Amino acid sequence: MNFDAAYIRRLAKAKNVDMDNLPTKEEIDRKFIETANKKLARQKMHRYYSDSVWSGNIPLRFAFSNWDITKQADPAKAKALGKHAFILAKQLEEKNFNIAMMGDRGVGKTSLALAMMDYLMDHGRSGMFVSTAELLRLVGDKYDDPSIVRKLRDIVRSMTEVDVLVLDDFGTEGGMTGSIKPVHKDLQDLMYQVSNARVDFENNCSRGVTIMTTNNTKQQLKQMYEGKFIDRVFPSDADHQLLFEGMNGVRNV
Ligand SMILES: Nc1ncnc2c1ncn2[C@@H]1O[C@H](COP(=O)(O)OP(=O)(O)OP(=O)(O)O)[C@@H](O)[C@H]1O
Ligand SMILES: [Mg+2]
Repeated sequence: MNFDAAYIRRLAKAKNVDMDNLPTKEEIDRKFIETANKKLARQKMHRYYSDSVWSGNIPLRFAFSNWDITKQADPAKAKALGKHAFILAKQLEEKNFNIAMMGDRGVGKTSLALAMMDYLMDHGRSGMFVSTAELLRLVGDKYDDPSIVRKLRDIVRSMTEVDVLVLDDFGTEGGMTGSIKPVHKDLQDLMYQVSNARVDFENNCSRGVTIMTTNNTKQQLKQMYEGKFIDRVFPSDADHQLLFEGMNGVRNV
């Protein structure tokens, strides 16, 4: 076959390649690295999400478009909460801070936490959902089953690295209101390890986003966990606390 210059030019023209503006080696290398990094990020996103710990092993999906204010007893409050959660999700595209969603059972805390995670995952941030009660169950079962020890190691690694971590029903592990007790030492240690990794001590700010949903007050959570840990994950900025109180749960109406 004849590979002379004229042949190559003809071939390039047929393939729409501009021979006078070929990329440099540096540009090709940069593009290659960019593509490889994007692929790695996609793989990581998938790994974190698949390490999620769902209640009863059933994954949940909820998007802001599913938020139906008529499903709540106080639609005006439901509308305001949905809007607040959406504004915070938009801010979290670029920034890192923690969110607490507090209120009674069935008022939509988990739904809005899922919607925020869904939104942020659509905008390139990795997400992981952890049902706290289910995590406690895994921690308790690890002594009977060595495969759970490995599983927990993966879960903890993902919990420390993921951009957006939803800690769902945080505090149920401490018992019902009125009989609150300290949480199992192993779960305390696990949470402490995760929360340490999610703080940027040098810049005194949050590393990643932790969204917790809870039926408990901050004071109650402090009776279950070491105060220092709660101070770390619980947002002090009132704008980062979504208070659902005063709304009736849809499960009860
Ligand atoms: N505004 C809403 N629009 C659509 N579905 C809703 C709304 N509010 C609640 N739901 C539905 O009602 C059920 C209970 O809501 P959700 O689990 O979010 O409440 P919760 O506050 O997390 O309750 P719990 O404290 O028991 O965990 C879910 O199936 C959820 O999808
Ligand atoms: Mg919930």
